[in-house]
Amino acid sequence: MSDEKIPLRDRIIVALDVENHAMAKEMVKKCESHTGFFKVGLQLFMASWFETVDWIVDRGHKVMLDLKFFDIPETVKLAVEQVNSRGVTFATIHGNDPIIRAAVAARGDMKLLAVTVLTSFGEEDMRAMGMTQSVEDLVYYRAKRALELGCDGVVSSGLEAGRLRTNLGDRLLIVTPGIRPGDNVSESLDDQKRIVTAGMAIKNGANYVVVGRPITRAEDPARILEAMQQDIAVS
Ligand code: C5P
Repeated sequence: MSDEKIPLRDRIIVALDVENHAMAKEMVKKCESHTGFFKVGLQLFMASWFETVDWIVDRGHKVMLDLKFFDIPETVKLAVEQVNSRGVTFATIHGNDPIIRAAVAARGDMKLLAVTVLTSFGEEDMRAMGMTQSVEDLVYYRAKRALELGCDGVVSSGLEAGRLRTNLGDRLLIVTPGIRPGDNVSESLDDQKRIVTAGMAIKNGANYVVVGRPITRAEDPARILEAMQQDIAVS
């Protein structure tokens, strides 16, 4: 396991990909016996702005605000400044060196994570976007650059986490989405392509995993959380 200091309870960040504040509150209440870390992304933020973020923070939990800021450096800096006093733990950005530098300078107490390559992208998507590098090489290049520029960590799939951990050391936070339970991890059944189990991600070097649909669409989210924590504990 990459970082023994993080308690098992905090390792799984539940992605609150739900329609509104009321549904987010309901999901937090179903999960909070097993985790105190929640991700607010584009769908929920568009619906509730900071209402859900503030509610989760006031409840004593941690928030990863996943809005993947990408714009000219000054705009990204101003956007990060809008967030940095809200009690958010992780925020996500991406971009070239000036964009990342601007975000780092404005981050305050938050930890800033650079998105490397989305876990829904495979090699064929890279070619379609005109990229010649492999996914793995591009993830590594972007992660190394982000760390050099002062980012606290990166978002990457569990497939690349090992190379990042080995080559970039323990200072880099690795947060891994694209998590699926063991029974369907061999093939992608939805839009995610670079998938691993929670246990594999942590074993490969991730500090945290982000899990959405396997938990939020389950009949009993706490039971899935428990099974994933078990998987992490034995990996
Ligand atoms: O439902 P699922 O487990 O696929 O949700 C994954 C979550 O992680 C989504 O909210 C998605 O926006 C987010 N995410 C991702 N890949 C990234 C960055 C964030 O899947 N590279």
